[in-house]
Formats: sequence, C-alpha cells, structure tokens
Amino acid sequence: MATATKSAISLRQLDSFGDVAAEDDAVLEYFLTTDAVTRIKNGDVFLVLGRKGAGKTALVRHFAEGNGKGLSRRLNLAGYPWAIHAQRVDHGSSDVEAYVSSWRYFIAVQLAALALSRTKGATDESAKAIRQFLIDNYGGESLQIDDVLKPSKLRLSSMSFEPTVLGCKLVTIALDRSKGDHKFGTELNALSDQMLAATVKLARKAGAPSLMLHFDELDQGISTLTEERARMLSGLVLAVRTVRQSFRDSGVPLKPVIYLRSDLWDKLSFSDKNKITEKLSLRLEWDSDSLLELVTTRLRAKLGPTARWETITQNEQLKSSNNKWTFILSRTFLRPRDVIKFMNSALVQAKKRGDNPLVLTNPDVVNAREMYSNYLKSELDDEIMAHWPHWEEALQSCSAISTMTFQREEFDAQYEQRRSAANPLTAEEALETLYRFSVIGYERRSGYGGSSWAFQYTNPEAGWDNRATRFKVHLGLKEFAKLRED
Ligand SMILES: Nc1ncnc2c1ncn2[C@@H]1O[C@H](COP(=O)(O)OP(=O)(O)OP(=O)(O)O)[C@@H](O)[C@H]1O
Ligand SMILES: [Mg+2]
Repeated sequence: MATATKSAISLRQLDSFGDVAAEDDAVLEYFLTTDAVTRIKNGDVFLVLGRKGAGKTALVRHFAEGNGKGLSRRLNLAGYPWAIHAQRVDHGSSDVEAYVSSWRYFIAVQLAALALSRTKGATDESAKAIRQFLIDNYGGESLQIDDVLKPSKLRLSSMSFEPTVLGCKLVTIALDRSKGDHKFGTELNALSDQMLAATVKLARKAGAPSLMLHFDELDQGISTLTEERARMLSGLVLAVRTVRQSFRDSGVPLKPVIYLRSDLWDKLSFSDKNKITEKLSLRLEWDSDSLLELVTTRLRAKLGPTARWETITQNEQLKSSNNKWTFILSRTFLRPRDVIKFMNSALVQAKKRGDNPLVLTNPDVVNAREMYSNYLKSELDDEIMAHWPHWEEALQSCSAISTMTFQREEFDAQYEQRRSAANPLTAEEALETLYRFSVIGYERRSGYGGSSWAFQYTNPEAGWDNRATRFKVHLGLKEFAKLRED
C-alpha cells in the first residue's frame, strides 16, 4: 500500500542526480572518499583498474582539482597523438620495452614542468636547468601533452641538461630514429634521469610531499586494441614502475598513476604483468552500501542535509521483498554511472507528474527501464567493440531466443544462423566473452540440489565454466533485447 513519505523532499527543482561522466559532473561537490583514495595517495598502488563508469575520472579530478595536499596533475590522453608517439620507438629494445624510454621521458618532462609551475620564480640550479630546457624545446615553461614527443630532436646545453653516454656529452637527442639506430633508449634515459633528479631537488626545496601525475582516458579512440597500442600501454606501465622505484626513497616520491579500463588491462601481456596486478594495482569495486553512500552524498549536496533515499522515494513495496533500491541495483553492474543513469531516467518519468512534493514512485522506477536499458547497451558497445566488433550478433541471438534464460543448444543454433563470415568467435567463445562482460551469467548447481546464477561482476571468483548448459541475460538488457521472463 502506498503511503505518503514522511518529511519528503521534493525533486521538482532538481535537474538531475548529476552527469553520468565525471568530466561533466560537479563530482567534487559530492565526491565520496573511498579506500581507493588512500591507497593511491599512499603510493601503495600505481595502476587503477575499473570498468567503464566505475569512477576513474572522478578519482583523477579529486586528486588534480580537489584540495588534496600533494601536487597533482591530470593528464587527459583523449585525443593524444598516439601515431606520433608510435614513431618514438626504441629499436634497440625488445617489443615490450620499445616504448619504455619514450614514456619515461614523457613522465620526466611532465613532472619537471609540474615542479617548476609550483615553485614560480625559483632561481636555484635545478629550476634554471628545467626552465631552460623547456624554453629551448617547447618555447615556454609549460607544455601541452600533445607536444612532448613532437620535436624531431631535443636540444641540450650546459644551461639545461648535458647527459653523457659512454663518456660523450650529448648536445642533441634525435627523436626521429631509423631502424638501424639502437642508441635512442640509452640517450633518452640519460636525459630523463638528469631531469628527474633535478625535479626531485626542486620539489624538495619547495617542501612538496610528493609529485603525482594521473594518466586518464588512455582508452579514448581505441576502436580495436591493436598490437602497437597494447605495446604502448604496457610500455607506459613499465615506465611508471621504474620511475617510482628509482625515486621511492628520494625524499619526494614521484608517483605517476595510471587509470585504465580493466578489459584493456586484461588483454595486455608481458612478463611481470601478474606481479603488477597482484601487488601494485587496485580494482574499483562497489557494493550496495558504498553505492547508497555515493547517492546519499549527492542528495545531501543537492537537496539539503536531511535528504536521503527514504526522503526522495515513495514508501511502497515494489514486489514483496523487492524495494526500489534493489530493483535498480539488480539492473546495474554495480557501477556508479549505472546507478546515476537509472535514477536520472526515473526522475524524467517522475517529472511527467504534477505531484507536490515530487518523489520517485514504483511506476517511475519501472518506466525508467527502457531509457536505462538503451544506455547500458551503448556502454557495453564501448567496452566490447574494442575486442569483438560482432558482439551484436550474439546479442541478437539472445533476442531471437526471446526469454531471459536459455539453454546452450538454443544459443548455438541462433548464433550459427547469425554469425557473419568476419566474426571470428565460435558459439562457445561468444558465450565466454558475453560472460566476461557480465552480459550473461551461467547456472551453478550446488551439491544439495539448489542452484544460483554466477555472473562475473558479482562472483568474480567463480570463473567461466565451459560445461555450463543454462544461461541468463543480465536484467539491465531485458528491455533493449526485448526479452521476457520465462
Ligand atoms: N568517488 C565518487 N564520488 C562521487 N561520484 C563518483 C565517484 N566515483 C564515480 N562517481 C560518479 O560516477 C560517474 C562515473 O564515474 P567516471 O566518469 O569517473 O567513470 P570512469 O571510470 O572514468 O568511466 P570511463 O571509463 O567511461 O571514463 C560520474 O558521474 C562520477 O561523478
Ligand atoms: Mg573516465
């Protein structure tokens, strides 16, 4: 039975619960500080992994724009000239190492410019050298990330840096190298070392506790993850690791941090990758409690200190044990963006009514599904397309079966009918990939005659079971794929 919510807070004047992308969201006004913040700040981890919408950019903005103490800069690599960077390859190194020296230089020059910008007017040797180097090569004290590797050569002098290689002073370092040239890495590393040492000196003088760089949007513009792009991403990870190791005990730790979509990380392969995953990375994970806290923090900031879930929703039962919150959560992959999108969609529905005060009702939540489901499909496109451009053929096979749950044979039959010549995945591989992105889960039988659905996002430890016979499509796709309950 519906009862009027006590001390209801009207949503009439609210435009939205926030933008779904941290870039466009006023996230710093209602940022929720999680464990991830502490672990990144302490330097325990340098690789932050998360699915789309898990909160990577929100963290980056917190560090780079929030009033945290450390000195931080956000490096947004959307639109980065990857093709130019691709030419800065170290022909003297193995495949995986080929981009480590260019990234190391990239990090060095960014950290140097950051330290200089925070010690305006400093006149000691290290400040002078950094300033001169930036002016000689980039025409000024600050530099855009697009410009770092653009020059065909770097100019050096006794006023800036003069690294030596095998006893010879370098006066220039060419960034354009031919295949036969194996000295690029050695020369560039010698310069980066000097620049990083000067940076630490300068930062120490300025009393900076640490210097941080935050690499965000590394996935932008990837339509398929090419071998070259994979090598460049691996190179960045290795470069960050060496910089951190070298300067851990320098008095001013240098802490570049990489924020990467987990599906891309899972595709990279190089030795030490497991070690990094185990010890130096963190996965952004949310549960019902932390997501509710995220929502509550938003409500308070937008609607006042007494706002919370109960004051913006009608007090009524959806189905016996199924309230609005669990109804919403079960349609998400437990990611902040999903929750915010669902709530915004429900708000659109609510606004169609003239009620005052205006709160979210069951019909609002139920009717929000259509808009939400379309959103979820396009988020999945962004993730899955990079690995498997034909995934739609598999989703259409599910639609053709038309029920939420299905048997393996049903899928095999529909998929084989739809599979195009260019689609490389067999039915078995298709199911496994859908599982990996939690588009489907499989039925797990327990020893006592019971059964449950194993989804990657809720039971990551379960792993894929290639003998599974019954599957279920994620609830969030029900409307998009036009499925019905069995
Ligand atoms: N700690 C947090 N506190 C408050 N809001 C958050 C937090 N983390 C994420 N959000 C919100 O969740 C939404 C998605 O987060 P964000 O844009 O950071 O995801 P992302 O991981 O960068 O996704 P993508 O891979 O698509 O770039 C945004 O609206 C953001 O403001
Ligand atoms: Mg982002």
